[in-house]
Parts: sequence; C-alpha cells; structure tokens
Amino acid sequence: MATQIFMALGMNQTLGMASTGEGLQVLSPRHLRYHETWISRGNGMHFLVTGGAGYIGSHTVRALLQQGHSTTVLDDFSTGHRWATQGQAVIEVDLKDLGALRTALAGTTFDGVFHFAAKSLVAESNREPQLYYQNNVDGTAHLLTVALENGWNRCVLSSTAAVYGNPITDTLGEAHPKNPISVYGQTKLAMEHLLERTCADHPFSAVCLRYFNAAGAASDASLGEAHDPETHLIPTALKAAAGTGKPLTIFGDDYPTADGTCIRDYIHVEDLANAHLHAMNYLADHQGFIACNLGNGVGFSVKAVLAACEQAVGATIDYSIGARRKGDPATLVADATRAKDVLDWQPTHTTIEAIVASAWVWERTWEIHEDRRG
Ligand code: UFG
Repeated sequence: MATQIFMALGMNQTLGMASTGEGLQVLSPRHLRYHETWISRGNGMHFLVTGGAGYIGSHTVRALLQQGHSTTVLDDFSTGHRWATQGQAVIEVDLKDLGALRTALAGTTFDGVFHFAAKSLVAESNREPQLYYQNNVDGTAHLLTVALENGWNRCVLSSTAAVYGNPITDTLGEAHPKNPISVYGQTKLAMEHLLERTCADHPFSAVCLRYFNAAGAASDASLGEAHDPETHLIPTALKAAAGTGKPLTIFGDDYPTADGTCIRDYIHVEDLANAHLHAMNYLADHQGFIACNLGNGVGFSVKAVLAACEQAVGATIDYSIGARRKGDPATLVADATRAKDVLDWQPTHTTIEAIVASAWVWERTWEIHEDRRG
C-alpha cells in the first residue's frame, strides 16, 4: 500500500536514500511536506504494534487511530493492560515462543510494524540478565524471522538512551559512543544491531527511536502510565503525594550536578507516539536503517522534577535521600536534531510543568474507571 500511495503522490521512489544508523541524510523541505502526508491522510492502513498494551505502545495505537488507521496489538500482557488496547484486534503471544508467533502471524500482512514489546527496567535487568536477553533480543530475532517469512518490510523500533551509557558530552547525539552500563541498555543495543543487520541483508527498512525519559499521559487522560511495580520518578512522586504509593526516595544527592541529583530529559508520551508516526512516514520512501534520539533537549534534576510535581499537586511531597541506584548516569540529555531534521518531528509538550500536570490528571482519575482496575 505504501508504494501505491507513494506513486499517487507522484514521487520517485529512487529519491529514497539508503541511510545508516549514524549517517545523517538531509531532505529538502519540499520532500518533507510530501513525507508528512503519507500517514496523516488517514488512508486506513493497518499496523502491527507489539507491546501495544503498554505505556508508549498504547499511546502510539491511539495516535494511529486518530489518523484513521487500525492496528493489531501483539502483547503477552506480562506488563501491559487489556484496557489499553482500545478495542483493537489483539494477538496474545509471547515473543520468546517462535512457534506460537509463527502460527499466530502466518500469512498476515501489515503496512508496518511498531516494535515496543520488551522488558524495560534498568534495575530488574541487572538482576535478571537472562530474562532480558531472552525477552528483548531473542524476542526481536523471532519477530524479524516472522517478518521476513511473511514479507513485511518496515519497522519502527522502540529503543532507549540507555544504549549510550555514561555521557562524554553535555548532550547526546546519535554518534555518541555506545557503552551501555545496564543489561537493559545492552539488550536494546543488541536489538538495534540485529535490526540494522536485517536491513542490510534484506529488503527491509527501519527507524530506531532512542527515547530519553518518557513521561506524562494522554491529554484527555484516557491513557497513561500504569506500571506494577512503579519505579519511575514522576509517577512515584505523584503516587506518594496521592497516598497511593510508597514514600519517595531520591536515589543519591551526591552526583556532580548543581543540586547533586541526576539530570534527565523528560519527553511527553504523546510526543513520543507522534514521533513513531513520523518515523513510519519516513519509511514510506526511504530504505535502510537510521537511529534517532527523542527528547526535549533540556535536562531537569530529580529535585527540579519534584518541585514541578509539588506545583501540580499543590502541596509539598515528602522524600528521603537514599543511596545511588546502580546503572544511573548523572546526566542524560538528548540532542534530538536528527529527529527534527530527518523525521520532521517537533515535541509540543516542552515544559516539565505541562508534562507533570498531565501525569497528575491521570494519577487522580485512572483508577476510578471500573475497566482499568485489577
Ligand atoms: N529516581 C529517584 N527515585 C525514584 C525513581 C527515580 O530518585 O523513586 C531518579 C533516578 O535515580 C533517576 C531519575 O529519577 O535519576 C529518573 O529515574 P526513572 O526511573 O524515572 O527513569 P530512568 O532515568 O531510570 O529510566 C529512563 C527510562 C529507561 C532508560 C533510562 C536511561 O525509563 O528505559 O531512562 O537511563 F533506560
């Protein structure tokens, strides 16, 4: 279908340029305008979304539905939620089980695959490396095996800033050395390498999106972050404020930063979801593999985030200072220039106050819905 739409737009597919993970391809503004229209026209395309019942996956499903597309959600529901699938077709299968995956997907066609399904907790990954390699790396190998068997040819991969490890520059561009300091980061880097190799060896193209710190909730509070256990800073602080979670501990205040706490680049989940649509757009007329960072390009310390949470809540939030958490770099801030230039993407929720405010609305409302409990 992509090719048909492409031809209908009168574009020359040979304009699509082979790209590498580190190479930057500059497109003309005219090209980007055409580029923008492929997915935003609501051509009723159908996408596979692995991990579509999870946090960022479900927001991407929502963004696709808003553009007039439909999805099949593939999830093992180990951490995802049925209420997050938004009435879409569901395939419940574990990516570790190649046989079951083959059976479930034999003969299927999709306009593209969004691959979110993965274990994603730094501390857990360091405790359970086998689980992370099996789930993330083997799972991706199985998905790509089935993709090639069924003739699918494009994928947008959920990756992470954790592939970089400790920064050696103030902001991280895609060419920054990759020395992950957690098993989670190692497995995501292995997934990227596998995908890049698949693109080199087969008629297959991919964009890999390296998220910085995903945060916030859907603007209408229909979706949001619902992890169990919750480990991320913003929901942990908000749950502490609401009395629905554990007390907040700040993991270390002796980092080499202005207030001693870690600095992160928080990016709203709707901006992340939107970036996936732009990435799939890009694949309509580009072959090869490219990696792009997704962040706002501004860092906030844990204490600054806590202040934003207190502002949203309208009350102080108690906390204690604990030991550093293993695998936490002091600072992680994105240089997302490539995503803006190549994917024609722009974040729209650019203040930490707006990001936290959306998370607070979600925290206060999501459990009152019957179908979201349990
Ligand atoms: N933090 C606390 N207390 C908490 C939770 C977090 O002080 O209860 C701190 C962390 O130490 C860190 C910051 O808040 O400095 C943000 O922590 P999160 O757990 O919210 O997010 P991470 O930075 O650990 O993780 C994110 C993504 C991962 C990715 C990682 C890259 O969720 O997928 O960035 O480092 F791997």
